[in-house]
Amino acid sequence: MSHSIPTPSVPAPDIVRCAYMEIVVTDLARSRAFYVDVLGLHVTEEDDEAIYLRSLEEFIHHNLVLRKGPVAAVAAFAYRVRSPEEVDAAEAYYRELGCRTERRSTGFTKGIGDSVRVEDPLGFPYEFFYDVEHVERLTQRYDLYSAGELVRLDHFNQVTPDVPRGRAYLEDLGFRVSEDIQDSDGVTYAVWMHRKQTVHDTALTGGDGPRMHHVAFATHEKHNIIQICDKMGALRISDRIERGPGRHGVSNAFYLYILDPDDHRIEIYTQDYYTGDPDNPTITWDVHDNQRRDWWGNAVVPSWYTEASLVLDLDGNPQAVTERDERSEMAVTVGADGFSYTRSDDDGSPEGFKLGSQL
Ligand SMILES: [Fe+2]
Repeated sequence: MSHSIPTPSVPAPDIVRCAYMEIVVTDLARSRAFYVDVLGLHVTEEDDEAIYLRSLEEFIHHNLVLRKGPVAAVAAFAYRVRSPEEVDAAEAYYRELGCRTERRSTGFTKGIGDSVRVEDPLGFPYEFFYDVEHVERLTQRYDLYSAGELVRLDHFNQVTPDVPRGRAYLEDLGFRVSEDIQDSDGVTYAVWMHRKQTVHDTALTGGDGPRMHHVAFATHEKHNIIQICDKMGALRISDRIERGPGRHGVSNAFYLYILDPDDHRIEIYTQDYYTGDPDNPTITWDVHDNQRRDWWGNAVVPSWYTEASLVLDLDGNPQAVTERDERSEMAVTVGADGFSYTRSDDDGSPEGFKLGSQL
């Protein structure tokens, strides 16, 4: 186990929400076909080096930057902060943590102004910005609305070896925990954390890291996700569907996981719940509950636990990956381990409808 991360004496920056991710792709045209032609994200701007994409309801310049490069990886997990001064606060906060920081008054990408990027204590490239170019919000452009329309950026998911260490760091940074997965020995396998009033802006998944597990876009309804599956089948790219569609236990969201041409994992997500009250209850799932990751009890494919994208340092080089030394969720739940369950004495099934006891 690594040492805990100290709490800085200066205030944490006031983070509003996850705002965009910058990913490096090895073939810009191939990635454009996936994100624009298949998924229907909207192009704000593009050139020979990068494509700036946004979801239908977004009013800031972009939610996803595809940047051409030699190694598929993530260059930035970017958060919007509440005011220009909060960018100063972020810089001071990470400096006190002893992290490498880089400030650019003109931004790191098109469309975004004064920002700071940091190599955070977990090894992730985080960015904080306020100043951003506004663009047309396409909410009522129903002429552009596709059957599988992606309407918002919902969250990031990060792989890190020591989940409690990461959780404490993100709680100091002002995130609140909505749900987690533990076992009876107190091992934490994953945690979901939010700033906006949804289940999460980012989640930590236990595994070899730092790596990016997925970035998630929201649709309005379940049927939008079914349409994406049907379209990928029609295009004969069903092999890029990795997991789902299904209903999560954690977050309650309806979900689909797909892989882009560089194997960056994208989640399509809808119908989680409101978490904005200060006393929003935290839900803890037993790692052996077969319905935690899929409410219908469908097994999680092993690749979902093992595969993830590299992340870059501020020089653009991949960060070294550290192995998780605690037990892994895949090892304790995939296959016949004899310890997982669908029904227990106190499984939360509705009173008077204990069907499980009859089957
Ligand atoms: Fe997710």
